[in-house]
Parts: sequence; structure tokens; C-alpha cells
Amino acid sequence: MNTPLASAAQKTIFITGATAGIGRATARLFAEKGWYVGLAARSADKLEELENELGAAKCSGHVVDVTDAEQVNQALQAFGENTGGRLDVLVNNAGVLHAGDFEDMPTHQHHSIIDTNIKGVIHCMQSAFPLLKNTPDSHVINMSSASAMYGSPTLATYSASKFAVRALTEALNVEWARHGITVTDIMPPFVDTEMLDNPVRSRIKAISLLGVQLSAEDVAQSVWNAIASRQLHDRVTPSFRLLALMQKHAPDSIQRRFVKFLSGY
Ligand SMILES: NC(=O)c1ccc[n+]([C@@H]2O[C@H](COP(=O)([O-])OP(=O)(O)OC[C@H]3O[C@@H](n4cnc5c(N)ncnc54)[C@H](OP(=O)(O)O)[C@@H]3O)[C@@H](O)[C@H]2O)c1
Repeated sequence: MNTPLASAAQKTIFITGATAGIGRATARLFAEKGWYVGLAARSADKLEELENELGAAKCSGHVVDVTDAEQVNQALQAFGENTGGRLDVLVNNAGVLHAGDFEDMPTHQHHSIIDTNIKGVIHCMQSAFPLLKNTPDSHVINMSSASAMYGSPTLATYSASKFAVRALTEALNVEWARHGITVTDIMPPFVDTEMLDNPVRSRIKAISLLGVQLSAEDVAQSVWNAIASRQLHDRVTPSFRLLALMQKHAPDSIQRRFVKFLSGY
């Protein structure tokens, strides 16, 4: 193996979807804290820009489409060579969102959500496993969403994908404990990133009622806090923590009525 680029004292993190929004804010935060950061996304130009910003001693960029298992495997192998086989934290953050009435959305949009948000997470977890197992006290942080609390009208397939991420998190939190790997997720409500750029924003009626209260930097801070808290699900805002608590006691009929009101159907 070549001499690792990350120093032995540096903690290591690999972030998918690192070229924009939450992923980029998380990469900046961890680099600032002295971590060695693996940046993964499809856009080579944006990766290069971020690598230049963070500096070569703090990061490596990996052009990868998470829907392609082979590309993911190669990227994580290359990252492992940079870190001497270590990976302290994997952040499965890459995601896509398409919104609209279910029947109006073309099949390729439904597929793109499933391929990126579910299969992408599975590919990364599979390929990262040897590195995670080789690193004491390692951690996987999955980016789920508040839409994994109750099936979300206008976002049916997206919401289903985030329920899948939640299920993978809960299952592997139990399974991988025996390997010394913690698996948790973050379930933010709306965050002010390009993902919500129009026309998406104008299609989601709940945004006009709830607003967009979070910045990408707020969620990056939740990723940082998750390292210490190891909380299974972090709902990020006090109001959504309260909603989750109320959900446990509310009958399905009340939950349905609330969601119907929020989504404007
Ligand atoms: N924004 C919200 O309101 C919100 C709320 C809750 C949860 N989330 C979740 O948080 C995560 C990040 O969202 P965001 O708002 O920061 O999104 P964003 O600003 O749209 O950024 C998405 C990132 O994912 C990358 N990406 C997309 N498809 C990819 C693929 N196939 N392979 C590799 N990288 C890919 C994009 O880079 P390239 O285009 O260069 O590949 C980009 O870096 C997502 O999982 C999202 O579902 C978002």
C-alpha cells in the first residue's frame, strides 16, 4: 500500500453528495475541524473547486455516481488507500428529489429516486464495510428526512425512499453493532438548498405552511453532533422532535388528517 495521504492523527470521513447543499457544508465543517474528508459526487468540476478550497492535505475528490456499484467500490478503495485503510465516518448524503402528483411524474423520475436514494446507500454501505470494520468505533450517518415519518403526498416515491433509508439504519444499527459500527440517521424537515429550487418548491404545498427553517450548515452541525450523541434518529428541530413524540400517541386517522391538511390535498 502507498503512504497514506491522511496523517495517522487525522480522523477520516467519506461524504457522498459533497458538491452542494448539506454535503458540501458537512465537508467544509469537518475539514475545518481537521478531519481528512473524502468528497464524492458526479460533477468533476465542482469536486475540483471544493478540493482547491479545502486543500489537498484535507481531502480527496472522487467522481462517482452512487447508482453504479462498481464506481462506488472503486472510489472507496481509492479513499482507503489515502487513509491507510481507515474510515471513521461514512455519510450517505447523495440524494435526488422529484415532486408532483404521483401519476404525473414520469417513470424515469420514480426510478432515479429509488436508484440514487436507496440503491446508492446500499452500494456505499457494502463497499465501505471493510474500511468501517477495520476502524475502531466507526459510524455511518444516513441522510433520511422528515418525510420518513408519514408517507408524504406530492413526494410519495421520495418519501418511500427515505423510509427505506430509515429501515436500513434501524436494521444495521442492530446488525453492525457486533462489528463495532454504529449506524444512525438524520431526518431533517425542509432545508434551504438547490434541492428545493423551483419548480420543486412551488409544487410542495407544505413549504408554504411550514416554511424552510434550516440551512445546510444547520444540518452539517447535526452531522457533527451525531458523532458524539450516536442517537438513532435525529429530527434536527425541536418542533419535529415534538411531532415525533406526538405521532407515537396519535391514531392513524388523526395523522392522516394532519398530513392531508399540510399537503393541501
Ligand atoms: N433539502 C432538503 O429540504 C432536504 C430535507 C431532508 C433531507 N434531505 C436530504 O439531504 C441530502 C442532501 O440534500 P441537499 O438538499 O443537500 O441536496 P442538493 O443540494 O441537491 O445536493 C445533492 C448532492 O448529491 C449529489 N448527487 C446527486 N445524485 C448523485 C449520484 N447519483 N451520485 C453521486 N452524487 C449525487 C449532487 O452532486 P452531483 O450532481 O455533482 O452528483 C449534490 O452534491 C439528500 O439525501 C436529501 O434527500 C434534503
